[in-house]
Amino acid sequence: MAGGFYISKTVAAVCLVGAAGALAVIIGLSVLYAQEKSKNVELLPTTAGPSTTTPSGPKEPWDYYRLPKTLSPVRYNITLRPRLTPNTDGLYVFTGHSQVLFRCVTETDLILIHANKLDFTKFDGFLAKLSMDGDTAPTLKKTWLEAPTQYLVIQLNKPLQPGKFYKLYTEFVGELSDDLGGFYRSEYFEDNVKKIVATTQMQPTDARKAFPCFDEPAMKAVFHMTLIHPQGTVALSNSINYDPVNITVNGESLIETSFEPTEIMSTYLLAFVVCDFAYIGTNPDAGVLIRIWARRKAIEEGQGNYALAKTGPILAFFENYYNSSYPLKKSDQIALPDFSAGAMENWGLITYRETALLYNPGVSSNGDKEWVATVISHELAHMWFGNLVTMRWWNDLWLNEGFATYVSYLGADYAEPDWNMKDLIVLNEIVGVMRVDASAYSHPLSSKEEEVLKPDQINQLFDSITYSKGAAVLRMLSDFITETVFSKGLHTYLEEFAYNTTSYKDLWKHLQMAVDKAGVALPHSVEVIMNRWTLQMGFPVVTINTQTGKITQEHFLLDPDSVVDTPSQFNYEWFVPVTWIKTGGSEQQYWLLNKEDTNTDLVLGASDWLVANVNMTGFYRVNYDETNWERLIARLTLNHQEIPVINRAQIIDDAFNLAKANIIETTLALRMTTFLNKEVEYMPWETARRNLNYFFLMFDRSELYGPMQAYIKKQVTPLFHYFRDLTENWTKIPEKHTDQYNQINAISLACSSGVESCRELTSGWFKEWMNNPAVNSIDANLKSTVYCNAIAAGGKAQWDFAWEMYKNATIASEAEKLMYALSCTQEPWLLNRYLQYCLDPEKIRKQDVSYTFIYIGRNPVGQPLAWDFIRANWLYILNEYGRGTISIGSIINGLTERFSTEYEYKQLELFKKEVEAILGSAAGIFDPVLERTKANMKWVALNKKPLSDWLSSQTSGM
Ligand SMILES: *[C@@H]1O[C@H](CO)[C@@H](O)[C@H](O)[C@H]1NC(C)=O
Ligand SMILES: *[C@@H]1O[C@H](CO)[C@@H](O)[C@H](O)[C@H]1NC(C)=O
Ligand SMILES: *[C@@H]1O[C@H](CO)[C@@H](O)[C@H](O)[C@H]1NC(C)=O
Ligand SMILES: *[C@@H]1O[C@H](CO)[C@@H](O)[C@H](O)[C@H]1NC(C)=O
Ligand SMILES: [Zn+2]
Repeated sequence: MAGGFYISKTVAAVCLVGAAGALAVIIGLSVLYAQEKSKNVELLPTTAGPSTTTPSGPKEPWDYYRLPKTLSPVRYNITLRPRLTPNTDGLYVFTGHSQVLFRCVTETDLILIHANKLDFTKFDGFLAKLSMDGDTAPTLKKTWLEAPTQYLVIQLNKPLQPGKFYKLYTEFVGELSDDLGGFYRSEYFEDNVKKIVATTQMQPTDARKAFPCFDEPAMKAVFHMTLIHPQGTVALSNSINYDPVNITVNGESLIETSFEPTEIMSTYLLAFVVCDFAYIGTNPDAGVLIRIWARRKAIEEGQGNYALAKTGPILAFFENYYNSSYPLKKSDQIALPDFSAGAMENWGLITYRETALLYNPGVSSNGDKEWVATVISHELAHMWFGNLVTMRWWNDLWLNEGFATYVSYLGADYAEPDWNMKDLIVLNEIVGVMRVDASAYSHPLSSKEEEVLKPDQINQLFDSITYSKGAAVLRMLSDFITETVFSKGLHTYLEEFAYNTTSYKDLWKHLQMAVDKAGVALPHSVEVIMNRWTLQMGFPVVTINTQTGKITQEHFLLDPDSVVDTPSQFNYEWFVPVTWIKTGGSEQQYWLLNKEDTNTDLVLGASDWLVANVNMTGFYRVNYDETNWERLIARLTLNHQEIPVINRAQIIDDAFNLAKANIIETTLALRMTTFLNKEVEYMPWETARRNLNYFFLMFDRSELYGPMQAYIKKQVTPLFHYFRDLTENWTKIPEKHTDQYNQINAISLACSSGVESCRELTSGWFKEWMNNPAVNSIDANLKSTVYCNAIAAGGKAQWDFAWEMYKNATIASEAEKLMYALSCTQEPWLLNRYLQYCLDPEKIRKQDVSYTFIYIGRNPVGQPLAWDFIRANWLYILNEYGRGTISIGSIINGLTERFSTEYEYKQLELFKKEVEAILGSAAGIFDPVLERTKANMKWVALNKKPLSDWLSSQTSGM
C-alpha cells in the first residue's frame, strides 16, 4: 500500500484526465496530523497506570517504541466479533479474545505486547492471563496499558525461561469506528438501506488496534483466525475458511467462521472483513482460487469482471518473472466503499478503494482502467516481494514500495500489451518525483533504523520518494544490469529469504550474484553504485558539451538559491549510467564516475545532434551546450519523429526544470514547445501541459493570461483538429491508449484557450445529458473534462444537476469525476457552498475531503475561498477527522501552489504561527511551502518581462 501517498496518486490519476490537472506534488501523511494523533493517544485514560516515568527520568523498557528482543511469537488464536449495529451508547464495537503462544528468547520478567485503544477484561485484577503447557507459568505482578508507546505491559513475579513457550490470553473490546485504521467500519447504502462493513487496515501499526500483538514486521507468526458474525453476512480473512457453523450467543443466532492457519507472516499483512458482498471467481479446481468481492450491485453490474480477467494473467506474469509459484492457495481482492489508501497488499486478501479495483466499461475511462491494472499489479507483486520476504523494519519501506511500483508497470504491460505501460512509468512516476527530489528539503530513500521509531515517523515514510523515486532507481538498475539478470537475482533472493525478513543489502547481494554469473561489466559493485542513489537525497544534472566532449555532474536543485544543509558522505556526486543517441545512430553508453570527465564520443559533427538519457532510464536531468540545444530545436521543428517519443517529452521536461533552476533561459525552454503544433503524441504534450501549468499558476491572475492563452490556442488548434478527424467528428474512440489520453488534452486545452467550437461541443454534450439524465452518452474518457468545462461555462443549473448525479452515482469512478468537476464552477457562492459540504460526511466521504479541498484550490476562483475556509476551520477539521482520513499537509501544499507574492508569503507565515502555537514543531510542513512561495516570488520577478516579450513575438499577427 498504502498511506497518504497512494491517496495522492489517485488524485494524480484523476488529474491526468482533468482539465485543470496540475502535477500532484503531495506531502505524504502530514506531520501536523500525526502530531494531533499522538496527542489524542496521550489523552486516553490508562487502565491502572502507575507509569513512573517522567520525561527526564531514566527510560523504562516500555518507554521505547521498539520491542525488546526477549520474546518471539509463534502462533496466535484470535476470535473477533464485530457488531454491525450500534450499542445502546450509539457506538459500534467489536469484542474479542486472543491467545498468543510465544517463546522466551532471553530471560525476562517483563512482557511487552502492543495494544492500542482496546479495553481489557480483568482476571483477578490483571489485564491478561499467562499459562504454559505441562508447567506453571510465573504469576503476574502488575499489568497496565502504556498509551504513548501503545503497549500492554505485564510485570511478572518470576522471570520467563529462555527456550520455554508461554501462552498469553486476553479478552477485550474495541471501537469499530470509521477512522479507516485497524478494525474499522465502512458504510454504504444499497436500495436505500444502510449497510455496514467491518474491515481492516493494519499497515503500518494498527494491528494492535484490533488485538494485542507483537506488532513489528519481523515478528512473524502463524495466525488462526475466527470471526463471529451476523446471519446473512460472510467473513473473509487471509486464508481459506472452513465451513461456517451456526451458533447461538445470548439467544442471538450467529455464524462462526474459522480459517485455515496462515503462513508464517507479519501482523501488518493481516486482514479480516465481515460484509454481505457478492463475488465472482475462477473455477476453484483450476489452481489458485481467484475471487473479486464488492457490493452486490457492483458485482451484478459486472464491475469486477475486468479485475477478474486480469488477475490471472498478472499472477502468471509474476510467477514467471520471479520464477517462483504463488505462495498461497487463494487470492481474494475486495473493493471497499471507505478506504484510506489506494489498496493494501494483505496476504491473500487484498483490500482496495472501489476506484482501484472496479471497472465499468462505458462509464469508467481508460485512465480508470489503467489505474485498476497498475494497482492490481502493484499489490500482486507484493505477494512475493514484501509478503513472502518482508523488510525487517520500516526504514526499508522504500525497497518494498519502490519495487512494487516499478514492477507494477511490467505486470500491467503484460496484461495490456498495447498500452505502452513501460513508457508511461516516466510520466506517472518519474518526472513528478524529480520535482520533489530537487528540493533542498528532500530526503534519502534509505533511512536509518534508529530514525524510524514512532508510528508517526513510520507513517511519514509513505511518500512519493519512497514509491516513485524507489521505482525510478530500481528501473535504472534493472536497465543497466538488464531485466533478465535483475529477475534472476530476485529469484534467488526470494528463495533464500522466503517466510523471513531482510534488509536492502540482502537484495544487492543477490543481484550482485546474478551480475557476476552473467558477466555484466560494472565499474563498481551493485551496492557501491546504488548507495549513491539511496543513501543521499537528490540526483544530478549532467551537462554535456558536444563541442569539447566535456561532461560534468552537479546536484540538481530546482530553487537556485536554496541551500543544502544536510551533508552527504558522497558529496552529492553519483555514479551515473549515461546513455545517448546521435543523429541516426544507435544507443551508446558510458559511466560518469566523477564530477567531471571528458569523452570524445560525445563530440558532434557539423550538423549532428545528440540526446542523452535515452528513454529517460537514468534518474538525472541533462543540460547541453547552446549549439546542441539549438540543433535539437531545429530537429524537433523539422522532423520531431527522429527523436524517440520519451526523449521528446524528456527534452521538454528537462528544459523547463533547468529554466526553473536558472540554468538556462526560460525562453529557451518555451522554444522547446514550438514544435508541438506538429506533435500528436501524448507524452510530449503531457509534459508540456504540466510544465506550462506552472506559468498559468503564476500568471493566471495577471495581464499575461491573455497572451498565454493565445499561444496555447495557436499550438493546440492543429491537435484539436487532428482528433476531430481521427474520431470522425467526435463519434469514435481513438484506438491507441495514449491517443485516448491525448484526446483529453486536446479538448481540455482547446476549451480553456478558447479554440472555436470547443466549449459549444462540451456544453452541448452535457446539455444532452441534463435533458435526459437516464442516458449519459458522453464518451467515458472525456467525461472528466466535459463535465468540468460544462460546469465552468454554466451556472447553478449545471452545478445542481452534477451534484444530483454525484449523489446518485453507484460507480465510484463516476462519483470521483463529478466530485472533481463540481470544483470547476466559476461562481464563488457555489464554490463556498461546496466547501461547506466538505465538512458534512453525509455529503462528502471523509476519504475524499482532502482532494475536494485541493480541487477547489486548483480553480483560480476557488483558491482564495478554499484558503480562507481552511484557515477558519482547521482546528475543527483536525478534531473531526481521524488519522489516515485527511492530510493537512497535502491540503496546505495544494492550496498554496499559486502563492507568489509578499502578501501571500506573510499570510502563510501567520498561519504557521497560529498552528505552531497549538501543535508545536509539527508546523514543519510549512517550510517547503514557504520555500516554494519565496522561489515563486523570485521567479515571477525574473521572468515576467521575458515571458511577455516572447509571447508577443509568438502570437503577433494573429
Ligand atoms: C489454537 O487453535 C488451534 C485449533 O483451533 C489449536 O489446535 C491450538 O492448540 C490453539 N493454540 C493456542 C495457542 O491456543
Ligand atoms: C444456519 O442457519 C441459517 C439460518 O437460520 C440456515 O439457513 C442455514 O442452513 C444454517 N446452516 C447450517 C450449516 O446449519
Ligand atoms: C532468516 O534469515 C536469517 C539470516 O538472515 C537466518 O539466520 C534464519 O535462520 C532465517 N530464518 C528462517 C526461519 O529461515
Ligand atoms: C525506448 O523506448 C521505445 C518505446 O517507446 C522502445 O521501442 C525502444 O526500444 C527503447 N529504446 C531503448 C534504447 O531501450
Ligand atoms: Zn505497495
